[in-house]
Amino acid sequence: MNFHVMTLFPEMIENAMAESITGRAIKAGHISLNAVNIRDYSENKHNRVDDYPYGGGAGMVMQAGPVYRCYKDIIRKIESETSPKVIYLSPQGKVFNQDMAAEYAKEENLIFLCGHYEGIDERVLEEIVTDYVSIGDYVLTGGELPALVMMDTISRLVPGVLNNDVSAQTESFTDNLLEYPQYTRPEEWNGKKVPPVLLSGNHKKLAEWYREQSVIRTAMRRPDMIAKAELTDEEKLLAKNVMNSVTD
Ligand code: ADE
Repeated sequence: MNFHVMTLFPEMIENAMAESITGRAIKAGHISLNAVNIRDYSENKHNRVDDYPYGGGAGMVMQAGPVYRCYKDIIRKIESETSPKVIYLSPQGKVFNQDMAAEYAKEENLIFLCGHYEGIDERVLEEIVTDYVSIGDYVLTGGELPALVMMDTISRLVPGVLNNDVSAQTESFTDNLLEYPQYTRPEEWNGKKVPPVLLSGNHKKLAEWYREQSVIRTAMRRPDMIAKAELTDEEKLLAKNVMNSVTD
């Protein structure tokens, strides 16, 4: 997976991605990061990339020219037969989720376009953007944090990035269920014991407990997800009882 990020703050992207699991994945060659400064494509002697909006109004708008030249340069260097997806981070986009991350993880190249100021000239968006994506119904100061959120989420799904593939299968949002609770040593802490089934070594019982806990947890914390999960009749009843007990 090769990530390309068009931004006015490349260091923000590079520094965040250099940490922890994404940093290791870059070093190991499972993913690559190419953060490109849109300002380098300004043809203005003061390196300006923004201007006043036509029609007036608050704030500045990023100009089409620098964004387009930056994009063309990235495309030229990729030398791919197919043109990669260009994701514009915007609160007006489709709200990002785990299924979208799984689809994006299959791509060879992804280009992120991070806006700043009040937005980007619509004409260049029409020309290059394939996907408009939001990370939630709130407004950030720019697209860098959303791009980082997306790259972090997508990276974990790229083969080799996590040591164990199992954890990507049992984790939250897989099958529209949240993950079950986890425990580690000591066996008793603050008067609280680890659930005995976890010490039993009985794999069948364990699998049943994990599944049951996932259903209970989802019903309690994200009842909106229950309708989309594939549940047995018994599990549906369990979820219903949990949801009723929460509202009681
Ligand atoms: N830019 C500003 N707010 C955003 C959001 N919620 N998602 C994606 N990009 C944004």
